[in-house]
Order: sequence, then C-alpha cells, then structure tokens
Amino acid sequence: MSKSTPCLLDGKALAQKIQLELKAKIVQLEPNIGRPPGLAVLMVGDNPASAVYVRNKATACHRVGIVSKGQHFPENTTQVELEQVIAQLNQDDHIDGILVQLPLPQHLDSIALLHCIDPDKDADGLHPINLGKLVRSEPGLRSCTPAGVMRLLQEYNLPVEGKKAVVIGRSILVGKPIALMLLEKNATVVMAHSHTQDLGAVCLEADIIVAAVGKPAMITRDMVKPGAVVIDVGINRVETSEGNSRLVGDVAFEEVSKVASYITPVPGGIGPMTVAMLLSNTVQSYSRRVS
Ligand SMILES: NC(=O)c1ccc[n+]([C@@H]2O[C@H](COP(=O)([O-])OP(=O)(O)OC[C@H]3O[C@@H](n4cnc5c(N)ncnc54)[C@H](OP(=O)(O)O)[C@@H]3O)[C@@H](O)[C@H]2O)c1
Repeated sequence: MSKSTPCLLDGKALAQKIQLELKAKIVQLEPNIGRPPGLAVLMVGDNPASAVYVRNKATACHRVGIVSKGQHFPENTTQVELEQVIAQLNQDDHIDGILVQLPLPQHLDSIALLHCIDPDKDADGLHPINLGKLVRSEPGLRSCTPAGVMRLLQEYNLPVEGKKAVVIGRSILVGKPIALMLLEKNATVVMAHSHTQDLGAVCLEADIIVAAVGKPAMITRDMVKPGAVVIDVGINRVETSEGNSRLVGDVAFEEVSKVASYITPVPGGIGPMTVAMLLSNTVQSYSRRVS
C-alpha cells in the first residue's frame, strides 16, 4: 500500500488520553492509600535540554495528580552524595518513583546510580532487575520510550505478530528494549546499528521500522517498503535556514510519509508517549500500596 496522505500515529493525543485514565485511577486509589503518588526527579548540572524535559515531566505529573519532587543538584555533586539521596528516597513512603535525569555530568557513573534505585520505584524501567524481567517476559516496570512505542502500535491496532521489524539503534535505553518488546509480541526482529552493512536493504525488508539513532533524516524514502509502519524515536535539534532551531526525528518525514502506511511525527509522536509511560510506571508502583 502506498499513500499520498500519511496516517499519523498521534502520540500527543494518546498521551493525553492515558493521562486522563491515570488521573481517574489515582482518584480511585487515593482514599485507600491516604496520599497521592510521588515521583522524585533528580537532575544534576545545568543541561538546558534536561531542564526542559524535567519541567515537562513536572507539568505532566501535576496534571494527573502525582506529586513531583524535583531535586536539582550542582554540577560538582559527588557520586556518594547522589547515592545517599537515592537511598533516602528508597525508604521514603511518599515516593513511588525515582528518576535520574540523563545525561549526567562526566564524573558521575549513571549505571551505578541506576543500580541504587529500588527496582520497585524504578520509574524509568532501566534497573537491571527490570530489564532482566523484560528479557524473561516477566511482569515488571518497563522502559518508558520502548513501552510508549508498543502502546502506540497497540492503540492503532497495528499487528506486530509475524511481522518483520527492523530496529535501528541498540542502546540499552531505547533500541534493545524495543527489540525485546517486539520479540515478546512475536515479531521477527532485526537489530541494526552503526556496523550494519547496507542498512537500506535491511530496512526495505521491514513491515515495521523503528529508528532510534539520533541522526536527522537518515531514514529516507528509498529505504522504506511501501505500506511499512515507521516509528521515529529520534529527537534532533537542527538549525533552520532562518537561523532558528527546530526538532526533527531520524526519519525524513516528508518523503517517507509518502510511502509509509503509518508514521509518527516529531515532535508529537514518541516524546509525549515516553512521559505518559513514566507517569504510568509511577502509578503502577503506587497501586501496589493498596492495603
Ligand atoms: N522520543 C523520546 O522520548 C526519546 C527518548 C530517548 C531517546 N530519544 C532519542 O532517540 C535517539 C537515540 O537515543 P539513544 O539514547 O538510543 O542513542 P545512543 O545511545 O547514542 O544510540 C544510538 C544508536 O544508533 C546507532 N547508530 C549510530 N549511527 C548509526 C548508523 N549510521 N546506522 C545505524 N545505526 C547507527 C548506534 O550504533 P552502535 O551501537 O553501533 O554505536 C547506537 O546503537 C536520540 O535521537 C535520542 O534523542 C528519544
């Protein structure tokens, strides 16, 4: 199937719907638990992009009734200091989710910090225990961006079982967990990365393409089979000819949308879904407090 008008996978609209559902769930749970859910967001240093993400998360929390406890630490905060903060939050009965905003300054070991988070409060779903549960297809907190991709496919009733899926990018944050989730739903999954040869030919085989690289417009029309579903996880800031900047994905949206059957926009696709899944994980942890 080739389309002149792309069918947009509207992550923004779905994220709003999920937020309304979460809000209703919190209203239902709160009398029993006796407090609203709490999410702690730790940010270190002054990365401007991180500051925007943290602010968006706080706004979304507020909208659904989650208390967002933002903690902003100076650039020179030590590993030990952060580990102590996480240890306190692990014990804090008013906190259901803990999130360390990445990237961290160079001198900090983000993996070691993620290991310190109580897996039951791992709102980002990146703790090795939760990633291990994903590998084993056991219930657990799932990584937010990959979970957002799967939820969006589900919302539009796009079949995954038996489909050929190509995931481009193999990071532990995005590519690997997405590949595992597609596999869990019985797709035949190929993982592509910087050493993949003839990426175009690999992608042309795919019914579902997930691009998670961080390179603007690297997926072009000639790489996409007509009728394929294209999910663009990439977020890249590029300069416009007028000297402004704007966000684009990894997919050359205009040209690819002429052949894809469904495609996510950037912005408005996977970005808002990631935040919705973060809230969903926090509420999932909160709901375990029901006595
Ligand atoms: N929408 C959201 O909410 C959201 C959330 C997280 C991330 N993102 C975005 O998603 C993108 C990926 O993030 P990330 O954290 O996964 O990035 P990352 O850790 O830098 O990983 C990038 C991956 O792309 C692969 N790659 C690089 N060049 C390639 C090429 N020419 N052909 C094929 N593969 C190539 C790399 O392969 P190697 O492993 O071989 O180096 C690596 O696996 C970024 O744009 C990021 O901003 C968006």
